[in-house]
Amino acid sequence: MQNKVRIAPSILAADLTRLGEELRDVEQAGADWIHVDVMDGRFVPNISLGPVVVAAARRTTSLPLDVHLMIEEPYKYLTAFANAGADIMSVHLEATTHLKRNLAEIRRLGKRAGVVLNPHTPEEALRYVLEDVDLVLVLTVNPGFGGQSFMPSMLPKIQAVREMIDRSGLVVDLEVDGGMSPETAPLVVQAGADVIVAGESVFGNHNHNEAISALRAATELARPRAQGMK
Ligand code: DX5
Ligand code: ZN
Repeated sequence: MQNKVRIAPSILAADLTRLGEELRDVEQAGADWIHVDVMDGRFVPNISLGPVVVAAARRTTSLPLDVHLMIEEPYKYLTAFANAGADIMSVHLEATTHLKRNLAEIRRLGKRAGVVLNPHTPEEALRYVLEDVDLVLVLTVNPGFGGQSFMPSMLPKIQAVREMIDRSGLVVDLEVDGGMSPETAPLVVQAGADVIVAGESVFGNHNHNEAISALRAATELARPRAQGMK
């Protein structure tokens, strides 16, 4: 587990008429990654952003672009997102019958590969793919919309994934996404999360700097216990 908890604001909640300014703002406020929620209206009941927006974000920020693909048949679109400038691409375990093929393709494209678990998906499903990933994303809301409430029942899952990663000895980030705030983020950091996605709690606050500082302070406080877990 890395020392520093990384914060990844999700542009789903940003003012997209001012994407460039929004990204510069959160970058200056100390954001570590930019999270991009891609929705296809099939895997989730909402449609959001595609490669065009990833490319626009790429022109505006040098932060890693962390692309969360909530889409069916992700394989078809991996090259497009890679070319658009994604640094990390995460596919849902539930969205493809050929997960390993998708993960291998992401790495072949020179990107970091992530696997995402819906709230109902047990962590045991990771057993045969951990060696294929650089990141595991545990969703703590049902995918499809920002601004939902954190599901505390996901905490044991986060802890179990943390233990699984540590036991494996592999270098894999553990990211948590959904309902993260200064109140909920410390709980998931204590459970072992390395990366926190935050939509509403960052972009919903007019003062992004204050919002990121609050998340940073809350997760720093939670860190000693997380470090103690190794
Ligand atoms: C949910 C998305 C999340 C969402 C998080 O489908 O994967 O990344 O944007 O938004 P908040 O932080 O508002 O719950
Ligand atoms: Zn997301």
